[in-house]
Amino acid sequence: MRFLPLPDGDKIPVLGLGTWQMGERRGNAAAETAALRLGLDLGMTLIDTAEMYGDGGAEEIVGEAIQGRRDEVFLVSKVLPENASRAGTIRACEASLKRLGTDRIDLYLLHWRGRFPLRETVEAFETLKSTDKIRRWGVSNFDVDDMAELDGTACASNQVLYNLSRRGIEWDLLPWCRERGMPVMAYSPIEQGRILRDPTLVRLAQNRGVSPAQMALAWVLSRDGVLAIPKATLPAHVRENRAALDLTLEPTEISALETAFPPPRNRAALDTL
Ligand SMILES: NC(=O)c1ccc[n+]([C@@H]2O[C@H](COP(=O)([O-])OP(=O)(O)OC[C@H]3O[C@@H](n4cnc5c(N)ncnc54)[C@H](OP(=O)(O)O)[C@@H]3O)[C@@H](O)[C@H]2O)c1
Repeated sequence: MRFLPLPDGDKIPVLGLGTWQMGERRGNAAAETAALRLGLDLGMTLIDTAEMYGDGGAEEIVGEAIQGRRDEVFLVSKVLPENASRAGTIRACEASLKRLGTDRIDLYLLHWRGRFPLRETVEAFETLKSTDKIRRWGVSNFDVDDMAELDGTACASNQVLYNLSRRGIEWDLLPWCRERGMPVMAYSPIEQGRILRDPTLVRLAQNRGVSPAQMALAWVLSRDGVLAIPKATLPAHVRENRAALDLTLEPTEISALETAFPPPRNRAALDTL
């Protein structure tokens, strides 16, 4: 596994495991737990989850998957904005810890900005840090003006939508984070599968003997300061995604992708899902 440095000097894996839509159906629990365990076995030791996913169900799946191997894992979870008051954040975190079956979260994010003043949420995050319930905190779906309000705080990362078809953050948000040594976590790095039939991606993948998903993921992983958290339940997908880390794109492949999926030409509001 490759790692990126965090602002506090620790490190974070560049490829992890998403969990959105896990924990929603009891019948899928065994396959979801097995997919996460397989990912860990293959070295994808970052797991991204949230209290929102499956109404806590995804955190329970993660808890099951990491049982007995907590120390291997870099665990990310998120508080919902409606819970992100000073007291609510602490309560939400404690409930997440219970579902996750652990005593600490490595990176705790505000899922998106809501009605509570940011200052309150940050104070709660700092309290959680001082009591060792979280190791560090960050945000998600924050645009550059929201990030500017956090300048000078201990914000460790911003998790945003980023893939070949969603390159808006390259205009100013990604450079902003890079300048501060703050890793950007790319969610939906294969656009939930929607870009995988793109003819350029398909052609390049065929030429290389890899899948379009691997090509798309390798592109995200080639970006400075960016880590990716694809979600996969099918074991074949988990294996493919891990192998994408070993795929180095050639300059000709990168330029073909640049033409098919051009970078932003002006500033636009942050894309979200
Ligand atoms: N902070 C936020 O607001 C936010 C928003 C969205 C997502 N996220 C996080 O980011 C994670 C990833 O994003 P996402 O789940 O939206 O989308 P994604 O990772 O881009 O795509 C997931 C979908 O792609 C399929 N897939 C995975 N690997 C594949 C492969 N190698 N070949 C073909 N298909 C493949 C999966 O199928 P199978 O499951 O059937 O294998 C699943 O249907 C989430 O799970 C969540 O943890 C965060």
